[in-house]
Amino acid sequence: MDNAFYVTTPIYYVNASPHIGHAYTTIIADVMARYHRLAGCRTFFSTGTDEHGDKIAEAAQKGNVTPQDYADRISVQFRDLWPKLAITNDIFIRTTDENHVETVTGILRKVHDAGDIYFGQYEGFYCVGCERFYMEKELVDGCCPDHQTKPEYRKESNYFFRMSKYQDWLIGYIKDHPDFIRPERYKNEVLAFLREPLEDLCISRPKTRLTWGVTLPFDENYVTYVWFDALINYITVLGYPDGENFRAFWPFAQHLIAKDILKPHGIYWPTMLKAAGIEPYRHLNVHGYWTVDQSKMSKSLGNVIKPLDLKDKYGLDAFRYFLLRDMVFGLDSSFSEEAFVQRVNSDLANDLGNLVSRTMTMAVKNSGGTVVCGDAAVEKDRCLEEAATGAVSEVANGFQELAFHKALIAIWELINRTNKYIVEEEPWNLAKAPENKARLDTVIYNLLESLRIIAILISPFMPGTSEKIMAQLGIADVSGQNLESARRWGGLHEGNVLKRGEALFPRVEFKKEEKTSVPEKKMTPVKPEISYEDFDKIDLRVAEILEAQYVPKSKKLVKLKIDMGQERQIVAGIAEHYKPEDLVGKKVVVLCNLKPTKLMGVESNGMLLATDTDGAGLTLIGFDRTPEKGAKVR
Ligand code: MSP
Repeated sequence: MDNAFYVTTPIYYVNASPHIGHAYTTIIADVMARYHRLAGCRTFFSTGTDEHGDKIAEAAQKGNVTPQDYADRISVQFRDLWPKLAITNDIFIRTTDENHVETVTGILRKVHDAGDIYFGQYEGFYCVGCERFYMEKELVDGCCPDHQTKPEYRKESNYFFRMSKYQDWLIGYIKDHPDFIRPERYKNEVLAFLREPLEDLCISRPKTRLTWGVTLPFDENYVTYVWFDALINYITVLGYPDGENFRAFWPFAQHLIAKDILKPHGIYWPTMLKAAGIEPYRHLNVHGYWTVDQSKMSKSLGNVIKPLDLKDKYGLDAFRYFLLRDMVFGLDSSFSEEAFVQRVNSDLANDLGNLVSRTMTMAVKNSGGTVVCGDAAVEKDRCLEEAATGAVSEVANGFQELAFHKALIAIWELINRTNKYIVEEEPWNLAKAPENKARLDTVIYNLLESLRIIAILISPFMPGTSEKIMAQLGIADVSGQNLESARRWGGLHEGNVLKRGEALFPRVEFKKEEKTSVPEKKMTPVKPEISYEDFDKIDLRVAEILEAQYVPKSKKLVKLKIDMGQERQIVAGIAEHYKPEDLVGKKVVVLCNLKPTKLMGVESNGMLLATDTDGAGLTLIGFDRTPEKGAKVR
């Protein structure tokens, strides 16, 4: 492990209050920062808010306040939330901070002086939600593929960053540094994007249209494009260009983002850094999306999960544990409160909570409340010791691979191994015969020592629970309880005063009617009646999917080769719901006499049938018996 570590979260837009998605990224960043501190690594962790641009200006206008007042109001919600989730960020940046505006101005000047910013004409379709221009071929049915809204047509003179100049360099850099963007699927996504010619990036907005931004240092009639401004936050917080922190931490920078903002981070940012003469960041770590009970979270569906609601209901550490245990980094995950409650009861109340409470009860009863070292270890004790050292290594591997769920599984294996040790050693029987006293002391010491190591390993994930266990073990000063000491069995001192505590995780009950967020079910209105003849015009057939691949540059579209007695190509908007490899071999229903069309330039000859009952998660219509390909569906 390097001796320095710098982790960042995206700086969140101030047009919406924090929800579980923001909390997830920030908690992972916190877990990573805490783990590196535990390993003795010098660590810097930054987060903050992104406050300029059209989106914020529009939201402020709607709320009848100035953009600054609006940004102040929402930014503070993020700033105040993080301590409540035990987030240990070193800095909270706002893009309206004076030092950030100075850094952005400095970079713009540098890139402009180097000849990489030029003035030109731009016309195109602009999506305010994405804060970017779209080419016509990128639109789906004339709408933004992400927001499904019609973009505005804009024609303006603007400043451009010569991003295209760095395309070959970026491809080479990504290929030479295979873990620059990870997991691999996102690296491949960026490389796929770079297979097409890269356009230059429009980095200004005329003040006649938008004044809420950083004024260009070389033309005061323009403000800076919000992404060009926002990405620079990652070096502002380190005091670029002269700050000691910049020298110490930038070479170790790791950005954490979700897949929604892969392109600005995987393409704009490295090319901007290159143009400004700054080394690229070390890693871009990209995670998937939380949905709620299979649906996309949205205000209109009323299913937005607020982190504090869950924290208040089930406790902070349970919330942090669940988020990291239930999502595989890089993949999407559907949040279900029922699954959350199950985890609290089984992993936390049963496995960990019971282990701590049984051990402490036996230990206090046996020794009158202090730690006693006991006899020399026997084979069975060494097995427990090996399980503990093994867990420390497995956790390290988990962090290395960003497989936080695997790190937690490894800790839970140790917890379960320790519970098993109790069952095997039967301390209650040893307690019955005085001649077994030394063995009993050994068994109890081993249990307590295992708890100490468990407490160290869970501390990045569940800091409060770790502290409570340490306090029960009589360890007042936890500064020495680091990864190094977790690797050395026997670190618990004889004579420590044990203190039994309350149950760490009381069992909870899941009540459907008290669910934290219940999406309102809205029935889509039934369409006007049609005649049998009208219905007969619709030709529905059974087809088998032979091949499936993502349509480049589209988040939603998958290109399919299907066999319905004859082969044909269909483009379906299901990329966010099915992975291409999972589609191959599926039997589906196809509307096969739909007029052919082109979606993102790819020909589509038909439509797959799917249901979207709750307004988001799509499920393909399937069969309960295997029909023949080409069979008519009536
Ligand atoms: N302001 C930009 C980022 C600029 S960084 C230089 C932005 N802000 S955002 O408020 O929209 O935040 C997006 C990020 O929030 C995602 O990349 C992710 O970290 C987090 N999430 C938002 N919704 C999420 C889910 N539903 N699931 C997981 N994470 C999500 O984009």
